[in-house]
Order: sequence, then C-alpha cells, then structure tokens
Amino acid sequence: MRVAVYPGSFDPITNGHLDVIKRSVKVFDEVIVTVLINPDKKGLFTPDERVELIRKVVKDIPNVRVESFLGLLVDFMKEKDSNIIIKGLRAVSDFEYEFQMALINNNLDANVETLFMMTSAQNSFLSSSSVKQVAMFNGDISGLVPEIVAKELKEKIEEIRKIKGD
Ligand code: PNS
Repeated sequence: MRVAVYPGSFDPITNGHLDVIKRSVKVFDEVIVTVLINPDKKGLFTPDERVELIRKVVKDIPNVRVESFLGLLVDFMKEKDSNIIIKGLRAVSDFEYEFQMALINNNLDANVETLFMMTSAQNSFLSSSSVKQVAMFNGDISGLVPEIVAKELKEKIEEIRKIKGD
C-alpha cells in the first residue's frame, strides 16, 4: 500500500491545498494530510481547529486521513511507515524554500522523497496568508477557499474583533 504524507500549516486550508489533495489520491492508495504544529508560530486557527476544518472539507474524498503532529516531519513519516512527502509548487518563488526543505528532509532520512505537484493555474496565486488578509479587510474570499472555510474564517475574524473591542 502506497501511503503519502501531505504536510503543511494549513492555516486555513485553501482551494489550492484541496486541489493537491484531490490529485494526490489518484496517485496514492492513502494520503495523510498532516498539520505540522509550529510552537513558535501561533497562527489564526489552533492546530485542532485546522484539523477539524480539513476533515470537514475532505469528508467525501476516500483514502484521506487528517492528523496533526508536533516534531520533525521525518519522524512522523517513520511513524506512519511512509517515505513520500507531497508538496504543492505554485511559482518559481516557492522553489528555493521547498528545495531547501526537501534537501533537509532527505538529509535527515535518506529514504524520504519529496514529490512536487504543480498547482492548477487558477490556484497559482493562492496562499493561506493572502486569503486571511483579504478576509480581514472584508474582501471576497469565495472561490479561494471551500465554503465552510470561508464561513469559519469570517467567524474567527469576528471573534478576534470582539476580543480586541474593534
Ligand atoms: O505550509 P508550510 O508552512 O509551507 O509548511 C511547512 C512545513 C510545516 C511542512 C515545515 O515547516 C515542516 O515540515 N515542519 C516540521 C518540522 C520539520 O520537520 N522541519 C525540518 C524541515 S525544514
């Protein structure tokens, strides 16, 4: 059974991520979408909220599991008995960062291979950060994220505004 891991911050999941997931399940028997917890970066959604959101988004896609992990990606891979990391590549600007990560992971564990999937043209400009910024300033994010994500993102921003007293 060929199991691949699709890691990321997913704060929150976008249509670009979803596109990579849908295409990856055509190539692998199982895809584990993994929210890597970065203790130095708080993020907008908590890791648990991100996992729940992804689970809602992928509920109808067979052979996808969603988990979170605190630690090195290569250790998670070992735990899951997988040696394939899937990453999406949007533009040349992604290349250097992704190239470095692929080399580090391969250096940490020579069995681990990173496979890159080019994002679809319509998602090539999309990132979680830009989606959050558009949402913060009440811009239209429909078409950038799944409907449930747009709803929960708006609710989260409202919640933060109330706490801050804006
Ligand atoms: O969505 P992102 O922020 O580009 O994902 C980056 C991520 C989470 C995949 C990367 O930071 C990661 O693998 N973190 C886990 C810690 C680790 O293994 N670091 C060594 C490789 S740089």
